[in-house]
Amino acid sequence: MKTILCVIGLTSLTLSIPAQNKIPVYLDDTQPVELRVEDALSRLTAEEKIQLLHARSKFSSAGVARLGIPENWMSDGPHGIRAEVIWDEWNQAGWTNDSCMAFPALTCLAATWNPEMAALYGKSIGEEARYRNKNVLLGPGVNIYRTPLNGRNFEYMGEDPYLASCMVVPYVQGVQQNGVAACVKHFALNNQEIDRNAVNVTVDDRALYEIYLPAFKAAVTEGKAWAIMGAYNRYKGQFCCQNEYLLDNILRKEWGFDGVVVSDWGGVHETESTVYHGVDMEFGTHTDGLASGAKNAYDSYHLAAPFLNLIKSGKIEEKELDKKARNVLRLAFRTTMDRQRPFGSFATPEHGLAARKIAEEGIVLLQNKNNVLPIRLQDTKKIAVIGENAVKVMTVGGGSSSLKAKYEVSPLDGIKNRAGVAVEVTYARGYVGEAIGTQDGLKTQNLSDNRSSDELIAEACRAAQDADYVIFVGGLNKHGYQDSEGKDRKELGLPYGQDAVISALAKVNKNLVVVILSGNAVAMPWVNEVPAVVESWYLGSEAGNALARVLAGDVNPSGKLPFTFPAKLTDAGAHAAGDYPGNNHEETYREGIFVGYRWTDKNNIKPLFPFGHGLSYTQFAYGKATVSGKHMQATETLTVTIPVKNTGERKGKEIVQLYIGDEKASVARPVKELKAFEKIELAPGEEKIVSFIISADDLKFFDDKRHEWVAEPGKFTIYIGASSADVRASVAFELK
Ligand code: GLC
Repeated sequence: MKTILCVIGLTSLTLSIPAQNKIPVYLDDTQPVELRVEDALSRLTAEEKIQLLHARSKFSSAGVARLGIPENWMSDGPHGIRAEVIWDEWNQAGWTNDSCMAFPALTCLAATWNPEMAALYGKSIGEEARYRNKNVLLGPGVNIYRTPLNGRNFEYMGEDPYLASCMVVPYVQGVQQNGVAACVKHFALNNQEIDRNAVNVTVDDRALYEIYLPAFKAAVTEGKAWAIMGAYNRYKGQFCCQNEYLLDNILRKEWGFDGVVVSDWGGVHETESTVYHGVDMEFGTHTDGLASGAKNAYDSYHLAAPFLNLIKSGKIEEKELDKKARNVLRLAFRTTMDRQRPFGSFATPEHGLAARKIAEEGIVLLQNKNNVLPIRLQDTKKIAVIGENAVKVMTVGGGSSSLKAKYEVSPLDGIKNRAGVAVEVTYARGYVGEAIGTQDGLKTQNLSDNRSSDELIAEACRAAQDADYVIFVGGLNKHGYQDSEGKDRKELGLPYGQDAVISALAKVNKNLVVVILSGNAVAMPWVNEVPAVVESWYLGSEAGNALARVLAGDVNPSGKLPFTFPAKLTDAGAHAAGDYPGNNHEETYREGIFVGYRWTDKNNIKPLFPFGHGLSYTQFAYGKATVSGKHMQATETLTVTIPVKNTGERKGKEIVQLYIGDEKASVARPVKELKAFEKIELAPGEEKIVSFIISADDLKFFDDKRHEWVAEPGKFTIYIGASSADVRASVAFELK
């Protein structure tokens, strides 16, 4: 072998790398993203740009293999990373490495009223998406809770735009710190599942800007979301995925959004309007996002061959294609091509702890007469657990947010584990809901039971007879019409004859605790027969542990309702004034801005449980509110303070809520609107001074004539309370 002596002349130490070996700008992550976008774009053919814009499998779109620009992989959903599906099918692929941590549903997150929990949630679910190599998480959803019948309310953050705005921002930031794009959905006005693929929503600009847009705006302008999902429905006659009002005028021009707009699966219906006013990435076309659809139709997607042909024929200029391609390339440089991204983690004990903490902080103690709760385990011999939801798998079902969880602790198992061997925990079915053993293509449980409801109730009452405590676990279950995508509920009441079981149990045992698992309000005709009622949401993998720890008092409940529980359906604006679910694909939100507590306040309606309501195992006293001035200039701020004291015997957290009412406005305004809140922890006897800073922005309404936010001079009242209906103090001031 010949040895070659290589001598480098001292004078030529500075190695001059020939120009052709210099790394291209788009691959150089020391370069600014926009330069990399332009450089990458300049290297693409029209065909390569087109393939960036549409799906090529159920949940992925092409990159540019020639240039080393990776594919994009999307994954549902808001509560955990969906199991892998077969390339071009909805059915699961049966992988054995994709069982995720199931986090609580987003109504539970909203019920924590704790932005730190939202940050923890986003970080954790973002780590799971990152580990699974998904660069777009199809969540969170922030559609406003307009009707208690909407099948997907469990995926969203309640009825109040301010609360949803405060909770969505940290979630988005948490996800994106993993180099995964949050895709905030469904933009916009997708507030029901009935007729979701066609209904044309008519809503006045005040309700649009004051109620339905704020959470999306916060996600974009504060959360810096990298992706938004266009909704299925129509607004002003245009499908939301090809809508100049929503996507051009509001999202891009008013909010300065520079991310990608992804269609909902099957949300794109037309080529040219999508080119000029529509999404950047088209998915699920020819399907309804849930069931089967046309096979491998990817080349016939609107943004595929049809778009390319319009360019090749000169009918549409390539700059229209470049606009969309830039947005998709920017997504790549923010995610797949950012080499500083963390590596993520999946279904870890840390994520289990996060799921449990969020669940514990979101559980809402609605009622607790005679202080039945917390359960005094040390004095307890027997606990009777009743109800199908005590044993039913809840992480599966509900539509696209369904999960293949690594584990799920049921309420019954959680209660058994926590009670320990000294306490006998019995179980009786109580009622039969859905006996089928499969959901979302997953084999779940065989819950078949042929007994009559009388037999089931008799058995439950026998079990309850001599128990120290009876815990009924019922509610809804994410089957069709029971909190599920694609199908709204048909009534406010509980299904499967649960009311009769609860009333029967109330007669045989005074220590009855009713635990409702749901993502929606339900009617409670038995509420005065039952001492304790708990709203326990869909809590995910750690459900049973979180619930048991709250019932046993290890955790003092601190959740508050993110939406109103109306006593009856017509106590909700959408049903009293709106024309839910619409007729002939047309629906007008006639209740306007008066959604939720805004409606019940306006009409002096007493809800079953009000927005912002939630009890604790301790008590909190509110002192006198003070305000730093009786007058305020539009350019100034006011400071409002109020002392809050824990007057009970145990540590607890209280969510102090601040609402503002405009006493004399030129337009109709709600009695009061949530404008601030703070969750504080107080030791027994401890008092804290809670203070809020008010600015003119908190006083504004959207003037739809001038198309801008306006604060009119005049008198305003600040209400501070433990819920929207439990005002503990108020102070007035005047805006000059
Ligand atoms: C579904 C849902 C959407 C989901 C998407 C992908 O139809 O509307 O929320 O992310 O399609 O499954």
